[in-house]
Amino acid sequence: MKKYIIGNWKMNLDYAEAKSLLQEVAKAQDSFDKTAEIVVCPPLVYISVFHELLKNNEWIKLGAQNVYCENNGAFTGEVSPTQLKSMGVSYVIIGHSERRQYFGEDNKMLLAKVKAVLKQGMTPIFCCGEHLQVRKSNVFKEFVMKQIEDVLFELSADEMQKVIIAYEPIWAIGTGQTATAAQAQEIHALIRLRLEKQFGAKVSTQVPIIYGGSMKPDNAGELLGQKDIDGGLIGGASLDAESFAAISKVSE
Ligand code: G3H
Repeated sequence: MKKYIIGNWKMNLDYAEAKSLLQEVAKAQDSFDKTAEIVVCPPLVYISVFHELLKNNEWIKLGAQNVYCENNGAFTGEVSPTQLKSMGVSYVIIGHSERRQYFGEDNKMLLAKVKAVLKQGMTPIFCCGEHLQVRKSNVFKEFVMKQIEDVLFELSADEMQKVIIAYEPIWAIGTGQTATAAQAQEIHALIRLRLEKQFGAKVSTQVPIIYGGSMKPDNAGELLGQKDIDGGLIGGASLDAESFAAISKVSE
């Protein structure tokens, strides 16, 4: 399966900085042949400008960091799946640990968002992962599996095969403390096994399972070399065009 290299810019950069980073990313990505799917998820406020800027770019796909689960109505401050779709968005991050932690998004909401995104023909990137405390308690495998089961196991096999799963151990996000390749591979393999049991072998081999948490050019090779790691959800390093391109190159 092809690799997915997805940059999550989070709530960083003013307009001028974001525009110039996009130009740098486009230039850096242009300098080598690519087989990986390259996705940039800027702050929502820049989506429509980025849609215009990327019109003639055949390599970089546009992603959103969040969405609401309804297509229209009295939901002040929210953005809908149909609105994102009309702005050329192809991927939507759902259930990032920062959304769960700071905005109280629960499983019911996450399932509604996943379904709403799928209905518009976009790809949900469903995030899961454990806190340090859970990791230390030794029930982290069950914890992560339950996050997946509670939401994704409500989908049909046909829906499931259109989802990307991002495993992001929270203790590795923005900390510089990456999971080792073996630690990440262990969970990815387990996720794939659970998908196989629930949805069958075909779906389990088709669903990309990507890793997020301090992925950088110097550790990307080992992580992306693992059998069940199909890409990266990259925060900090995606804010540097050269680092992002270096990770994309590793995945070739
Ligand atoms: O969405 C991206 C992840 O939260 C990883 O962020 O690469 O800064 O650790 P990070």
